[in-house]
Amino acid sequence: AAIHLEDYQPAPYHIDTVDLDIHLDPTATQVKATLAIRRREGVDPGTPLWLNGDETAFTGLALNGEALDESAYTANERELVLHAPPADPFTLEIRTWVNPDANTQLSGLYRSSGNYCTQCEAEGFRRITYFLDRPDVLSVYTTRIEGRKEETPVLLGNGNPVESGDIPGTDHHYAIWHDPHPKPSYLFAMVAGNLAHISDSFVTSSGRKVDLKIYVEPGKEDRCGWAMDSLKRSMKWDEDVFGCEYDLDVFNIVAVSDFNMGAMENKGLNIFNDKYVLADPETATDQDYANIEAVIAHEYFHNWTGNRITCRDWFQLCLKEGLTVFRDQEFSSDMRSRAVKRISDVRLLRAHQFPEDAGPLAHPVRPRKYTEINNFYTATVYEKGAEVVRMLKTLLGDSGFRKGMDLYFQRHDGEATTIEAFLTCFSEAASTDLGQFARWYEQAGTPLVTAKGHYDAAANEFTLDLSQSIAPLPGQPESLPAVIPIRFGLIGQNGEDITASRITGAEVRGDVLLLTEAKQKVTFHGIGQRPVPSLLRGFSAPVRMEAHQSLADLTFLARHDSDPFNRWQAVQTLATQELIRLTHEARKEGSLEADDRLVEIFGAILADRDLDPAFQALALELPGEADIAREIGKDVDPDAIHAARTAFRAAIGAAHLAAFHALLPEATQDEDFNPDAASAGKRALAAQALGYFTASGTKAAPERVWHAFQRANNMSDRIAALTILVHQDLPKAGQALADFRSRHSCNSLAMDKWFTVQATAPAQDGLERVKALTAHPLFDMTNPNRMRSLIQAFATGNHVQFARKDGEGFAFVADCVMAIDPRNPQVAARLLTCFRSWRSLESERSKHAEKALLRISAMEKLSRDCRDIVDRCLQ
Ligand code: ARG
Ligand code: ZN
Repeated sequence: AAIHLEDYQPAPYHIDTVDLDIHLDPTATQVKATLAIRRREGVDPGTPLWLNGDETAFTGLALNGEALDESAYTANERELVLHAPPADPFTLEIRTWVNPDANTQLSGLYRSSGNYCTQCEAEGFRRITYFLDRPDVLSVYTTRIEGRKEETPVLLGNGNPVESGDIPGTDHHYAIWHDPHPKPSYLFAMVAGNLAHISDSFVTSSGRKVDLKIYVEPGKEDRCGWAMDSLKRSMKWDEDVFGCEYDLDVFNIVAVSDFNMGAMENKGLNIFNDKYVLADPETATDQDYANIEAVIAHEYFHNWTGNRITCRDWFQLCLKEGLTVFRDQEFSSDMRSRAVKRISDVRLLRAHQFPEDAGPLAHPVRPRKYTEINNFYTATVYEKGAEVVRMLKTLLGDSGFRKGMDLYFQRHDGEATTIEAFLTCFSEAASTDLGQFARWYEQAGTPLVTAKGHYDAAANEFTLDLSQSIAPLPGQPESLPAVIPIRFGLIGQNGEDITASRITGAEVRGDVLLLTEAKQKVTFHGIGQRPVPSLLRGFSAPVRMEAHQSLADLTFLARHDSDPFNRWQAVQTLATQELIRLTHEARKEGSLEADDRLVEIFGAILADRDLDPAFQALALELPGEADIAREIGKDVDPDAIHAARTAFRAAIGAAHLAAFHALLPEATQDEDFNPDAASAGKRALAAQALGYFTASGTKAAPERVWHAFQRANNMSDRIAALTILVHQDLPKAGQALADFRSRHSCNSLAMDKWFTVQATAPAQDGLERVKALTAHPLFDMTNPNRMRSLIQAFATGNHVQFARKDGEGFAFVADCVMAIDPRNPQVAARLLTCFRSWRSLESERSKHAEKALLRISAMEKLSRDCRDIVDRCLQ
């Protein structure tokens, strides 16, 4: 049954305090929850109290300290209903029983490597005790945890530690935690086990000293330094940029190796997938370091955007997630290169969110209905949600945006609120109407913006014909124009921006023009020479832009645009056009010779000494196979795309062989490892050079790659070389895989990479190799990270093999989905989304994909999570 936004009703009861008493046991944990409950004003006395459960085992109930007659309530796995509660405030004491060892869904209370931990967002708390498990019920929590000293020497809860000690005459001890900040149940957490930690401290701007600790399995403490450093920088940055200060005496982070998602912002006790905590040069890549910095910041920033101010209901998920992603992106931009960060974020948005927004799983940033909320932790809610906040900042300017944020924090602190309330803060603070802007939250689909420029020399005028539209989507046949901020420049022959004397036909704020109609003609007056327009600078709106620019103009932009994002974009646009042309050639078995003029652009990037190496590395990266498929849009043939891209890379490599040779990794390998952005950029460029050097087919390549692999003194260099060895099937590939394995077999995060390198190898027998790897002693379908490193990596990173013409790739992934679903529906449903673009494939492949989906759909006892995805995919 679907849940609808317009059906929202506040809960009839408040739960002011929650006192939990948890007695840990691997298979029989006892939970006593004492709830102080109060009827909401205006609610009829005696209105039944309906509490959520989910596989919850009821063991007892008392009202105001007295046992209740069985006729007074209903208790089963799914609910606890008190038929006629007292009119006056009362306490309810609920006893339940949990089997953490049997919890394979990793939602609620479960065990990971023997340690107890919880995951309650979105609806996991009801798996621990019956509750009004919804984000608008805010309570003050006190948690007492008791366990065997030997099994659980560390006992952690939300908030501040209050008391702890031994229980005389037993081998047990306990700890009491109190969180003074009212919070929804999804932010509850507890952790217990044998954990080691590192500590540090932070003094907030008003002088509160906060103890910081990161807990990990013993032996992993020496890999927590970067995460701690990132945490302290996040705390400082949030004070400086948003005026947000931390509000407890302790901040604890725990890393676990079985986790469905990335991490969780539980108040004062963040729990992380260990891949976003652990790092050292030997086992983590530069990307891992950047991810850790971003995810630590993201969860920390939730303390204000998510915890102090939370969501009224799950439809408002983007209220905390879009905003917090925006905040973590800004943090990373300030820590690193802003241009490089922006380009990386846009690449991610296009790779994950654009296809979601163009297919059967499309939904608005704020959905209006759902059947399983866990399926809405999507790229649209997170990444497009962040883009919408970014546009707000673009529209209001830095100070208008900050005023709106200040008002939001001031007005809604301690509340569970909505997108409307959030937008109202900005329209009030900046005295502007955001009615049309709100459509960004309401409409699904990526707007297509077209632009046609025309220069009238006689009139000294440049005109732009602009349009916007969204293609029809399931459930959204039509759409209305949004407010699209287009940051622009008109570039003169000398490469500098020209200023118009006057602009008519659109509202302009600084260098941003507002496209608000379906069609708009904008005229720039006083333009004395034909300009080259640079549109959507910095990717100022999450749209697809078709600017119909000539090869000459795009080449000019690639060299001269003062906006680094659009310089990169010009190269991408040119490369995409060429790759689409070559794909058509490949399909009719024509010539795969790349256009020299395009090959030359890459030479110019390589030769430009003024460019940041990280930027060069990004500019050298051709659009991925999935990007090309998305641009082609229909009747997609992944083999042809692969052939086209391979040919283009070979041509670029061969044409600039000497330049690539000069950049091979040896140059960077003697330096001491430093995870900073500048060093990472050099390594990224060296990895590109090694890739193109090999793609050129030069005889010297296999030896050089092997050499680079052996000499690598950090994971980035090592994995880059290993990927080339394996993906190009070079002679030493097998030996390198064996070396890597023996070096890293004890480190699961490193071994995840070993699986992924093989899962993404586009070789003819790629699928067979992946199937064989599922029988590898280190493969474990029940560990989410390991499963994703092989199966999801295959489905999302190996297009030719996943979308094999014989349908075997689809069939294999479908089998995996069905095997995982009974144990862990959330993870199975996420894997299943890799089918979402199946209709855009050519007919033979799409028929096979459909068959695989129908097979899943026919499965008896499919989880609600997978049922929802498969139904939407097939609709
Ligand atoms: N709030 C977490 C974050 O983005 C994500 C938790 C999602 N978990 C889930 N099971 N849906 O930081
Ligand atoms: Zn988040």
